[in-house]
Amino acid sequence: MDQVIIFDTTLRDGEQSPGASMNAAEKLRLAVQLERLGVDVIEAGFPAASPGDLEAVRLIAGKIRNAQVAALARASKDDIDKAWAAIRDAAHPRIHTFIATSDIHLEHKLKMTRPQVLDAAAGAVRYAKTLAENVEFSAEDGSRSDPDFLCRVFQAAIEEGATTVNLPDTVGYAVPEEFGNLVSYVLKHTPGIHKAILSIHCHNDLGLATANSLAGLKAGARQVEVTINGIGERAGNTSLEEVVMTLYTRRDRVGLSSRINTKEIHPASRLVSMITGIMVQPNKAVVGANAFAHEAGIHQDGVLKNRMTYEIMEPETVGLAKNSLVLGKHSGRHAFKNKLGELGYELSDKDLNRVFERFKELADKKKEILDEDIEVLIAEEILRVPDHYELDYLNVVSGTVAVPTATVKLRIDGVEAQGAGFGVGPIDATFNTIAKMTHTRSKLVRFSINAISGGTDAQGEVTVRLQENGLVALGKGADPDIFIASAKAYVNGLNRLEYLKKNPSLSAEERAL
Ligand code: KIV
Ligand code: ZN
Repeated sequence: MDQVIIFDTTLRDGEQSPGASMNAAEKLRLAVQLERLGVDVIEAGFPAASPGDLEAVRLIAGKIRNAQVAALARASKDDIDKAWAAIRDAAHPRIHTFIATSDIHLEHKLKMTRPQVLDAAAGAVRYAKTLAENVEFSAEDGSRSDPDFLCRVFQAAIEEGATTVNLPDTVGYAVPEEFGNLVSYVLKHTPGIHKAILSIHCHNDLGLATANSLAGLKAGARQVEVTINGIGERAGNTSLEEVVMTLYTRRDRVGLSSRINTKEIHPASRLVSMITGIMVQPNKAVVGANAFAHEAGIHQDGVLKNRMTYEIMEPETVGLAKNSLVLGKHSGRHAFKNKLGELGYELSDKDLNRVFERFKELADKKKEILDEDIEVLIAEEILRVPDHYELDYLNVVSGTVAVPTATVKLRIDGVEAQGAGFGVGPIDATFNTIAKMTHTRSKLVRFSINAISGGTDAQGEVTVRLQENGLVALGKGADPDIFIASAKAYVNGLNRLEYLKKNPSLSAEERAL
């Protein structure tokens, strides 16, 4: 088989990135984009982690029709029941159960012997098979496990009916040749392996996740587990775009393909950074802002003469439209609705009216409205958590001689409140004033600002990370005025903190795998 199964775990392992938690509406939107991208399997979450996670997976399972929807479960009946409850209505459900197989995990974490782990793995797959036909088994920390024990566990899982067995490099410790050899070893020494698909799942602690995944595929694995932008636990997971574009660009050498619609890579990447607030590093392969930028004169000259002198991929292939200019202030509701459809959004009439109103306001300030601007409007209007605080008005005074001052009008649960305050700069003054008015004590642990598109009239997109009593929330806001964008991001962060207080999920420790 020359086709590689792309298993996307942005919504599960990706969501385990520090500070990357997403609400249910955001997860659903991302799942829709993953389906447009053409991934074969969407790992939608870990339902046993919290009732909120279960509900989000259930929503995704109800919506996605083409891709398989997987839910993660430890090797326990309770976890597997929750996973099944979440995905039973999916068109193509998959239960993904796992247990660690390395001695270090057995001794220190699980406090189990090898025979006990073997039994637990077989028992978990046996039970999962009573519920679903499609069952994946993962040997956590597989790359640091005794290869013969690993094969023995995979054999047992396959005998119980596992349709996929997954070999993770959980801590990103392997190097490519070693990992490729391990995959070959498993293929050679696991009785019955031909009855299942062998999958690989790499982490990027040494920056080798893509190289290890390609080595695994070359050795015969046929499913690769990846995330958009490579987000994930610690240094992240193998990045979907890197693997897919290597298969595409170097098909002459690798000889494998995927079903991914590469033109949806950029929209997916933008959506993930917008939702999680995790910006892509500018020099990131395939999706970084500089991935197709040629700075040196000699390179520019070459590209002008023939793109292929310095470009191995065409930006259009990964969905970077040369000119994604869309609408302006004269565009009507119909054109706007069509554009939303092209971007993959189906909104109710009520939501459409809300977003259209915001679009008109923006079009009054900004001449050209790009796809990126519309995506941000949707994120602000549709994907947000319920608002406890709303920003009504902001006026800032700053300059070389003025004391930075902010006057703010908020609505707190619908009731108007007004305040004013000072700070060392206009943003400090704004945040101090809002904190005073809302009686909140969150600490600002991150502030970043990004221009959504080129030009001096570009919208500024601000991301803040707020921390209060152990809870961490991201806030996002966009506006052509960066002070307003900052205030919106701060208010959005406070709303998310409120939401977290009202919907406590499991602690980070319980969520950790
Ligand atoms: O890294 C890992 O081992 C995992 C498994 C649960 C597949 O994420
Ligand atoms: Zn992982």
